[in-house]
Amino acid sequence: MEEKHREGLMEEKRLFFPPAGFSSNAVIQNPEIYELGQDRTKFWGEQGKRLDWFKPWDKVLEWDRPFAKWYAGGKINAAYNCLDRHLNGARRNKAALIFEGELGDRRVLTYQDLHREVSQFANVLKSYGVEKGDRVTIYMPMIPETVIAMLACARIGAPHIVVFGGFSYEALRDRVLDAQAKVIVTSDGSYRRGNIIPLKENVDQALRTVTCVEKVIVVQRTGQPVEMQEERDVWYHEVIKNVSLVSPAEHMDADDMLFILYTSGTTGKPKGIVHTVGGYMVGVSTTHEWVFDLKDEDVYWCTADVGWITGHSYLVYGPLSNGATILMYEGAPDYPEKDRYWEIVEKYKVTILYTAPTAIRTFMKWGESYPLGRDLSSLRLLGSVGEPINPDAWMWYHKHIGEERCPIVDTWWQTETGMIMMTPVPGITPLKAGSCTIPFPGVHIDIVSPLGNAVPKGESGYLVVRGPWPAMLKTIYGDDKRYEDTYWRQFEGVYFTGDEAKWDDDGYFWVIGRVDDVINVSGHRIGTAEVESALVDHPLVAEAACVGRTHEVKGQAVFAFVSLKEGILIHDELIAELKAHVVLKIGALARPDDIFLTDELPKTRSGKIMRRLLKDIAEGRAMGDTSTLADAAVIDFLKKNINIEK
Ligand code: WT7
Repeated sequence: MEEKHREGLMEEKRLFFPPAGFSSNAVIQNPEIYELGQDRTKFWGEQGKRLDWFKPWDKVLEWDRPFAKWYAGGKINAAYNCLDRHLNGARRNKAALIFEGELGDRRVLTYQDLHREVSQFANVLKSYGVEKGDRVTIYMPMIPETVIAMLACARIGAPHIVVFGGFSYEALRDRVLDAQAKVIVTSDGSYRRGNIIPLKENVDQALRTVTCVEKVIVVQRTGQPVEMQEERDVWYHEVIKNVSLVSPAEHMDADDMLFILYTSGTTGKPKGIVHTVGGYMVGVSTTHEWVFDLKDEDVYWCTADVGWITGHSYLVYGPLSNGATILMYEGAPDYPEKDRYWEIVEKYKVTILYTAPTAIRTFMKWGESYPLGRDLSSLRLLGSVGEPINPDAWMWYHKHIGEERCPIVDTWWQTETGMIMMTPVPGITPLKAGSCTIPFPGVHIDIVSPLGNAVPKGESGYLVVRGPWPAMLKTIYGDDKRYEDTYWRQFEGVYFTGDEAKWDDDGYFWVIGRVDDVINVSGHRIGTAEVESALVDHPLVAEAACVGRTHEVKGQAVFAFVSLKEGILIHDELIAELKAHVVLKIGALARPDDIFLTDELPKTRSGKIMRRLLKDIAEGRAMGDTSTLADAAVIDFLKKNINIEK
């Protein structure tokens, strides 16, 4: 790629232009698209036509702030758009899903195959009484049946709730209960670095006190013995046998629920983010095609787990609605060797790779010999998502994976936005290392001051979205008020993202990070309040306060300060025990890297924990204003006794 040095930019002065030949072949070649995006309803009305509708919409947008109805009056089905409409032409026998197991096993499903399995499984769900609107929880490894289960739910109009397989049984139970799921689809176990995670056993534990779940459908993956509860539990491979292949796709209102996905917020209770069929599908389909410059012959690999929004939007719904060939890998990037990703790229001639900064930083640490040992010449486009990518990691990705040939699309978005919101459109948007560049056409983003006024170029502030976009969340499940308060009240009338960002003189956006009590660990959102309540749940703990601390590979790590109940002696084994307790309550992803035991937490005179000071301590930096502290000795103790390695 051509590199140009320019003066006067914010962080990075270099601009990267698409290589010769890329732009002239790109899906989007005309920068005018950004102007067309100014007229929101006209633009998204045009894009709506890319999908198959059973009945056209009456109105592109009904905006009853903060509730939007996209494509009101339209009838549509997500699974139909991902499968049936590809069956008439040449795509019928195209690989829809290439699956690579951690142990090296492989399965390829064509669009026709996938359609068949989804139709059958939809009929299985129906036979257990699952009807339009009933919720189904999916707690699965990264295997084809997971995608099949999602699409089967979509086909019959039953919203799915995918729970990441790394969540503990308690976290699973909370989500099952909040959504009142009727059925759970799971597997006996899941492979991870050669070990087995006992998913079915976790389901059994989770369901001990739960009454809403009527059926548990178990996919056989790892083959270890599991307990099957009579009446309730059935094997997927048994119940799918001889089931009819005919399954009409439910005609859904555009505004009907497609899925719920839980994410962390500022309170201890995860939020059930609700996405609807019509707007979501138009949003992910358009962005997937344009951002990844998708061509029919591409092999597209998104490394995210389906348990996260990236897996929903850019492993399943976006790519399949566009008739892409998706690659799905079950396991860890270092199993059996640290070049597993590059082996997969070489083996399947992957052309588009979408991964996360934390993975890139891990690869950097392992060294370039791993990618160098493999043929990566098939790659033509790289993507990044989940957290800010530091310019160093961007350059490494560019050089050692993209071989200076592949544009990098750094995509900013959220569980709530459903679709990519800021990103380069690779044929027309020059890149800067570490910037997600500019908003996608038809998306209106701004940076505002604490009072809600737009800040001038060159300055930083709060990142907001002005007005609705098609894949926006509909609400928080069962809690319209929390939806309104969380996103639309901070700055009246605009959507608050929870992020801080600055923009440079070219109008390029540089996302700094969360400004709320959310920690971004390896691109996963963890609420400090969730970890705190997990810690306080331990019988010996009196109080806990968690903050995020900068981490070289993970971006941020959880640092917890814990005070024990009266009379409990501090001993070192306690730390391991407390960490294990967090893993039990939430899952390994929330395990604090550091726990510091202390008699007292720093508080204001009115008794509020001063997290700001704890953050200063965790980051090993100079302390901010301490004048409101009730007892300055607490801070002196912490400063003296905590040894932060930087
Ligand atoms: C938060 C959303 C979007 C799918 C994965 C995460 C951060 C996400 C970027 C990026 C800088 C990013 C933000 C955002 N984030 N992508 N390209 N550059 N920050 O989804 O769990 O809902 O987290 O992730 O802080 O608010 P999520």
